[in-house]
Amino acid sequence: EAFRVVRNPHAATDAERAEKLRDLAFGLQFTDHMARVTWTADEGWHDRRIEPYGPIPMDPAASVLHYAQEVFEGLKAYRWADGSIRLFRPHANAERLQRSAWRMALPELSVDDFMASIRALVELEHAWVPDAPETSLYLRPFLIGTDVFLGLRAPKRVDYLLIASPSGPYFPGGIKPVSIWVERDYHRAGPGGTGAAKCGGNYAASLRPQMAAYERGFDQVLYLDAATGSVLEELGGMNVFAVRADGTVLTPIINGNILEGVTRSSVIRLLEDQDLKVVERDITLAELRQGIEDGEITEVFACGTAAIVTPVGRMASTDFDVTVGDGQPGPVTAAVRERLTAIQYGRAEDPYGWMHRV
Ligand code: COI
Repeated sequence: EAFRVVRNPHAATDAERAEKLRDLAFGLQFTDHMARVTWTADEGWHDRRIEPYGPIPMDPAASVLHYAQEVFEGLKAYRWADGSIRLFRPHANAERLQRSAWRMALPELSVDDFMASIRALVELEHAWVPDAPETSLYLRPFLIGTDVFLGLRAPKRVDYLLIASPSGPYFPGGIKPVSIWVERDYHRAGPGGTGAAKCGGNYAASLRPQMAAYERGFDQVLYLDAATGSVLEELGGMNVFAVRADGTVLTPIINGNILEGVTRSSVIRLLEDQDLKVVERDITLAELRQGIEDGEITEVFACGTAAIVTPVGRMASTDFDVTVGDGQPGPVTAAVRERLTAIQYGRAEDPYGWMHRV
């Protein structure tokens, strides 16, 4: 079903938009419109519309405000040199949003509706897709429970929203290594918990450890499994990889606790096609630390839609502090980042069918 369009009478002028698109940071600017679909237990998904971007009044008893009934996605639209606009693997995000919604007892939005909302919004807002290097239109689809009821149950009213943020790099300064604090006191997820769902609560819970790490002088936090405190899971908002001197690349296996990253699976594919062996399995902190110390592990990197591929130059915790390799971006990290972004920005052929023209 088509999205009807309610135009924003206060949309930015060309000059205002040009001003907003200058020197883009991540996630601070927003376009003139947003997509919205409402779900009720009685009517299902209905009222597909594009409307002016702006505040979304809701009842103070809305369930999202009390019980965090929220799941979200992140994907990007890229401006190619020929002026066309391309999405990266949007179906993967559509399907993950369904899995996240299922876990949080929210209704699943169809892949067709997800795709139609993205096409409708990006087509209308095409002038907001920036063209400076390393910029993109970051798309943030999300579901919220808007039921007016303080009882704890699956909501009977839910809104799907899609907002768009012309953005620059999540970590500015090009391919600059980040430092990681390995968290011992807090966990991101537990067995049977919500670790695999992209729900806001997971990210909220990561902020206190993130603040503590920042105060210690570290950029990001790496979480260990809650059951044993010994196996790597992921960062606050990114998956993690380790490159061995023998050319094998390790990454934590999808075990229900970690987010099934779209960038993660793309990176695995790209590494394999560069004749590297990728092994998805449990990686213990002891193995990682020892490997870095004796040179068996030469590179560590993190990846995600927002952060792309980001090298890790230093890892530490209460009982160790190691420099990864020489602390600079390693060759495997740099190559996979270049290969991925070359496909995303159309500088290289896309043999995988990942890019979708809008
Ligand atoms: C993304 O990488 O798109 C995410 O959703 C992570 C968020 C912390 C920006």
